[in-house]
Order: sequence, then structure tokens, then C-alpha cells
Amino acid sequence: MTKPLNIGLIGYGFMGKAHSNAYRRANNFFDLKYHPVLKAICARDAVAAQKFADTWGYESIETEWKKLVARKDIDAVDICVPNNLHHDIAVAAAKAGKMVLCEKPLSMDTKEGLKMVAAVEKAGVPNMVWYNYRRVPAVTMAKQLIDEGKLGRIFHYRAVFLQDWTISSDLPQGGNALWRLDAKAAGSGVTGDLLAHCIDTALWLNGKMTSVTAMTETFIKERKHTLTGKVEKVAIDDACAFLGRFENGSLATFESTRYARGHKALYTFEINGEKASIKWDLHDLHRLQYFDHRDEGRLRGWRSIHVSDHDGSQPYMDHWWVPGLQIGYEHSFVHQVADFLKGLETGKPAEPTFRSALETQKVCDAVLASAKSKQWAKVK
Ligand SMILES: NC(=O)c1ccc[n+]([C@@H]2O[C@H](COP(=O)([O-])OP(=O)(O)OC[C@H]3O[C@@H](n4cnc5c(N)ncnc54)[C@H](O)[C@@H]3O)[C@@H](O)[C@H]2O)c1
Repeated sequence: MTKPLNIGLIGYGFMGKAHSNAYRRANNFFDLKYHPVLKAICARDAVAAQKFADTWGYESIETEWKKLVARKDIDAVDICVPNNLHHDIAVAAAKAGKMVLCEKPLSMDTKEGLKMVAAVEKAGVPNMVWYNYRRVPAVTMAKQLIDEGKLGRIFHYRAVFLQDWTISSDLPQGGNALWRLDAKAAGSGVTGDLLAHCIDTALWLNGKMTSVTAMTETFIKERKHTLTGKVEKVAIDDACAFLGRFENGSLATFESTRYARGHKALYTFEINGEKASIKWDLHDLHRLQYFDHRDEGRLRGWRSIHVSDHDGSQPYMDHWWVPGLQIGYEHSFVHQVADFLKGLETGKPAEPTFRSALETQKVCDAVLASAKSKQWAKVK
């Protein structure tokens, strides 16, 4: 018999769906002692919340997050709302003794993030941030190869996350999905939204960053605000590029924009080591590109590894279909739920916890501070 874990999910947009799907699938593919129960969905609009509950199988709805957090039948609160709400919900949930699963970025800034870390640690509740790309099997395998020393000394870490959906000046800011363009709801633009993913993966694969120098640009200076109806100043970074240094001596080159015409979600990273290099591309997420200088000279070249083997050597894949058949984006969330539940079982928390995710927040803060001051900034 598996133990129920009652989930209270807040927000039914993009991530609300991704998480709900993951809660429903995890126990079908992973052998776990806990199983999520979709207890309640919270959204401000009761009709929309009920529709979501019916679609995904939630037992009940709430229209105020404070009511959801106070409910005795909720074990874990899952935060899938815009960034400016993460802090208040997470702190209240921790105080109420609930486990807290929070979407990325952890917080609007490091100051807020520190309070969130303190709240979950004081309450002693399991906590996790949804940096889901760590759990794409090819990315997890990159971590294994690096930890085994296959790349040797690392020289370069290069990442980009490119989109093109905000080029039109007619696009308003604020409200559902468009809250990303409103600094009051998002905290920052591409830095907290897209680079946060690249930074989390980088810190996980290559260790801490010590300093950065950045430039940002806001190409469209004013946009109509969906909620106020007025034309307001745009305060987010539309594009950000930064250089940095890692503690291990390697150099960082990062770029993100929502103005790269032709790119929808081009997240790539490349790591160059003394002995080998690896490359990964979200558009081809089941493949890991690997170059090993130790190969025999005439056969040396980039290998395109289809990460789908079932012999247990390629992470997560033995839980799915048959060798050669690949999985996709949504599976990274299924893996994250499975790992969270396994963490409850073993007492070894699934990463990143709030404390680990705070490291990404510190880099984001340093990037934004450097862009403002036009000076190098230390990661505090
Ligand atoms: N891990 C990832 O890859 C990933 C991808 C997308 C978004 N995110 C993060 O997930 C979070 C949500 O983003 P999204 O894309 O799902 O946004 P979204 O706009 O699709 O959905 C946000 C939801 O929050 C609801 N909401 C807003 N204010 C609320 C309130 N006061 N009470 C209850 N519900 C409220 C909205 O009605 C909507 O349902 C953000 O923090 C974002 O950065 C992470």
C-alpha cells in the first residue's frame, strides 16, 4: 500500500498543467512509497478552477490561496503562480507545516529568497524548486559524465536561451502569461525567466560562479498594461548577455533574449573540457553530443548519443518504453515528482531545495547589478 500525499496546487496555467500531469503519471512509471492525491486546485476564478479540476481530476477548488494553505487535508503546497507571489505563499505554507514545491525562479530577488529558505528550514518541511531541466535524461547524463571526470579540467561553459515572442510592440504587459513583461510581477525579464534555468543547470554541472559582467536591454520601452489599461514603462530586461567566472577557473558565456527572430525556446549549453566536450539542445532534448579527444584519431568526432537505453546506464530511461524510443519535455516534471517522492521515502531531499535554488538567485542579482553599474559584480 502506498501512502497518500495530498497536493494543493495554486495556479492553473502552463505550469499548473505540467505539474498536474506529472503528479498523475509518476506512480505509473516509478515504484514509490508515496502517491500524490490531487486534493485541491486554487485559482481566483471559480468557474475556471472547476473546469481545471474536472479536466485533471482535482477533488476540490479554492479561490483564495490563503484558504488552501490553511486546509488541514493538504500536505504539500505547489506554487505555480507569477514570481511576485512565491514568497508570501511559500512562507505561509511553511508556517502552516506544509511541504512546499515552488516554481522557478525561487523569488523576486535574493533578499526575498533568503526569507523563504529561513521559513522552510525553520518549519523543517521538505521543499523543492522546479528547475526541471536537470531531469532531462541527457542533461542528467551530462552531470554523471562531468562528475566521473570524463571531461577533465573544464575551460568553458556556454549557454543561450533564445525566444522571439515579445518583438511586437502591440503586445501588452501584465495579466495571464503576459505578467512576464511586468517587472512588478516577474521581478526581471529574461534574467529571472530564462537565464535562471541556464544558471541553475550550470551551477549544478560546473559548480559555483564567483563574478559576472553583464549588459541588458529593453527594446520596447512602453507597453499598454492589461490590468490598468494604461501605457506604462517597461521595466524588465528584454535581452541579457553576461560573462562570468566559475570557482573552478572556467569561463562563463551566457545570452538570453526574447528578440531572436526564428527561435521559440532555443536552450543550448556547451561545456569544453581538457579531455572532452559536451553539447545539449532543448530542441533535440533526448540527445547528448559528446566529443572525446582520447578516441583514436581517425575516428575522432562528435558523437550524437540517443539517450534511450534501458541497461540502467542512462538516467531515468529504464522507466519508459523500450530502447530507441524517446521521451519529451513533460517527462522532466514526472522525474521531478518521482525524485521528490523518493526523497520523502529515503530522507535525502530532492534537489534543488530552496537553499540550493537561492544560489541561482544570487547569480541573477549579480547579473542585474552588473548591468546597472556597468562594472563586474561579485556573486555574494
Ligand atoms: N519550470 C519551467 O520550465 C517553467 C516554465 C514556465 C513557467 N515557470 C514558472 O512557473 C510560474 C507560473 O508560470 P506559468 O507559465 O504557469 O504562468 P501562467 O500565466 O500560465 O499561469 C499563472 C497562473 O497563476 C494564476 N494566478 C495569478 N495570480 C494568482 C493568485 N493571486 N491566486 C491564485 N492564482 C493566481 C493565474 O490565474 C494562472 O492560472 C512562474 O513562476 C514561472 O516563472 C516555470
